[in-house]
Amino acid sequence: MEFTLGIETSCDETAAAVLQGEREVLSNVVYSQADLHSRYGGVVPEIASRNHLRKLPFILKEALTGAGVEPSKIDLIGATFGPGLVGALLVGLSAAKGLAYALKRPFVGVNHLEAHLFAHYLEYPQAGPPLLALLVSGGHTNLVHIKAWGDYRTLGGTRDDAAGEAFDKVGKLIGIDYPAGAKLDRLAKAGDPEAIPLPRPMLDSGYDFSFAGLKTAMAYYLKGHKAKPEDVAASFQRAVVDVLVGKTLRAATDLQVKRIAVVGGVAANSELRARFQAEAAGLEVYFPPLILCTDNAAMVAAAARFRHEELGQADPLTLSPEPGLRL
Ligand code: KG4
Ligand code: ZN
Repeated sequence: MEFTLGIETSCDETAAAVLQGEREVLSNVVYSQADLHSRYGGVVPEIASRNHLRKLPFILKEALTGAGVEPSKIDLIGATFGPGLVGALLVGLSAAKGLAYALKRPFVGVNHLEAHLFAHYLEYPQAGPPLLALLVSGGHTNLVHIKAWGDYRTLGGTRDDAAGEAFDKVGKLIGIDYPAGAKLDRLAKAGDPEAIPLPRPMLDSGYDFSFAGLKTAMAYYLKGHKAKPEDVAASFQRAVVDVLVGKTLRAATDLQVKRIAVVGGVAANSELRARFQAEAAGLEVYFPPLILCTDNAAMVAAAARFRHEELGQADPLTLSPEPGLRL
């Protein structure tokens, strides 16, 4: 299995990538629709699917030419089939199935959550399982015990908003357009993280997360008080990071796992990175580069190749999108 084509359209990134062998990323093309959704304060499903349809043919072509690989040389095609927005998933999945049929190549449907874990697989071959993964993005907040590649136990997930979603919603409270995470991160550097008292939801209980209450607490505070945007950003970020780091380190101790992988768009957060590095004494903490952390198709291709080669998986062309798919 030399060349794998990966396709990702589960949310608002249209992405295609070509992988050689297990880990060599020959091309990794991502078109983010974030600008199209920002005025609505979040992803509008109908706009997402229409634009996937519009962009995917060009993104695919760019991925293939960028890699210098003819379509006829592709050995395997993988595409995300869930979780995500059903109309958005359908676009990438249909394209992948059509290509697999036309090229007479096997097809693998990829779980987007597993794909995020494969960002670590791609970047750190020397630091394999057992691993504890913190997957934090706009759509997900999961703590996953990776016993081996392909063998996962989800310890906990969010009961309401994902971590990135909470950043986006608090950003909106102070007039920052979607997606607000990176801007809040920058603002926070100039703010006082103790200026606004906020809870640390579920810090000491179990492995589930709950971030919706933080946003509500902030909204109430802002109704009664004047606050600098810098202080809003810093106080909110400190509360989220306290919970993410606290729970992950507790899980690492409970499971006696020495390696932690932090993946997903929120892994870009500077305070999260600094705190893990400072507090994870005796543990190894890995942050893949941003291009592999945010939604992309290289991670999808890597997961598809692994499933096909190591687990013998090939899916029928009747595979349907599964918007609520779990790990
Ligand atoms: O992984 P991703 O690109 O998309 C999803 O699968 O959701 O993650 C995007 C999310 C957004 O919610 C964005 O606000 C957040 O990641 N984000 C950040 C930072 N950069 C991106 N959140 C906190 N700090 C950052 N530096
Ligand atoms: Zn994602």
